[in-house]
Amino acid sequence: MTASPPRIGGLDVESWGDPEDPIVLLVGAPERLSGDWRRSVRALVDAGRHVVLAAAFDGDEDASVALRRLLTEIPSRPAIVCADETLPVMAPALAVTGPALASCLVIVAGEGQGVVSPEVEALLTGVPTQVVSRADTLEDAPDRLEAENAALLGFLERQAPREALHYQAGSDPRTLRDALGCFATGVTVVTTLDEAGQPVGLTANSFSSVSLDPPLILFCLARSSTNVERFRQAEHFAINVLHIGQQPTSGVFARSQADRFQDVAWETWDTGAPILSGALASFECGTEQIVEAGDHLVIIGRVTRARFEPRRDPLLYFRGKYRRLHFS
Ligand SMILES: Cc1cc2nc3c(=O)[nH]c(=O)nc-3n(C[C@H](O)[C@H](O)[C@H](O)COP(=O)(O)O)c2cc1C
Repeated sequence: MTASPPRIGGLDVESWGDPEDPIVLLVGAPERLSGDWRRSVRALVDAGRHVVLAAAFDGDEDASVALRRLLTEIPSRPAIVCADETLPVMAPALAVTGPALASCLVIVAGEGQGVVSPEVEALLTGVPTQVVSRADTLEDAPDRLEAENAALLGFLERQAPREALHYQAGSDPRTLRDALGCFATGVTVVTTLDEAGQPVGLTANSFSSVSLDPPLILFCLARSSTNVERFRQAEHFAINVLHIGQQPTSGVFARSQADRFQDVAWETWDTGAPILSGALASFECGTEQIVEAGDHLVIIGRVTRARFEPRRDPLLYFRGKYRRLHFS
């Protein structure tokens, strides 16, 4: 996250994320906006929001006027997230012309709080409003924090949707790549032996199951791979599904490096294809079929042997980054 300290409408603000993204304005009560809230800021930025934090207000009677000025000067109609103790200052700033100033309002209330008085409700007429309750600390409850952030993002998506990105056939492969990156995958290391009996392998997330009967799997190999001819010739190969602790291994097998196997433990089973010791799952395969498909080969294998470790979490890959499971 990058922080910059500009002023908007005469108020100090801090901001994070891409200024081109839709704005979420966080207002007031720094103690509510610290700790877990910092993590919410990160979730908002990751979800494509530009987060602007307005400095705390101390009940000064001009605070509503200052906020209203900020709302009129902010570049686009923001979604507002405000702590419940700040509501008496926030609500008058939205009186009458609220819908023109803000796309929606999320009120963050302490547990058991959050009843909006009829007077305040009247000031907020026409502004879609949601109250979310937030425990003072969620440090010991990461799943709950995830769920609260998901609810907040869900409301924002409905009330202030981000513009979807589009790919048009024949142009802009980068956007297509980004669209494909929305499909979360595991990560594997695909291995075989070269003609001299030396192990070769590379990181691949294009692995997929194909058929149970007969037992078939596939992966896609770039024609630009230095190993393309070796896999084309190989009668056998293995797929090693990586667990969360094997991110460094994924890095090694994705970089060009003389001997990718020198620091990993591996063994062989029936065909000689390298099986990485301790992988989450390994599949030994005979090459069944190779389909030429654009700039990749689709390599289909018939599984002859498999082993898996049921108690470890997978290494995941999503939107160009390594990830881990959040929910068990
Ligand atoms: C997470 C991840 C997934 C990848 N998936 C594939 C894949 O499915 N197919 C592929 O050909 N390359 C894939 N790559 C790229 C190769 O691992 C990388 O280009 C590697 O250096 C190829 O080595 P080689 O040319 O020696 O075969 C992936 C890389 C990463 C980091």
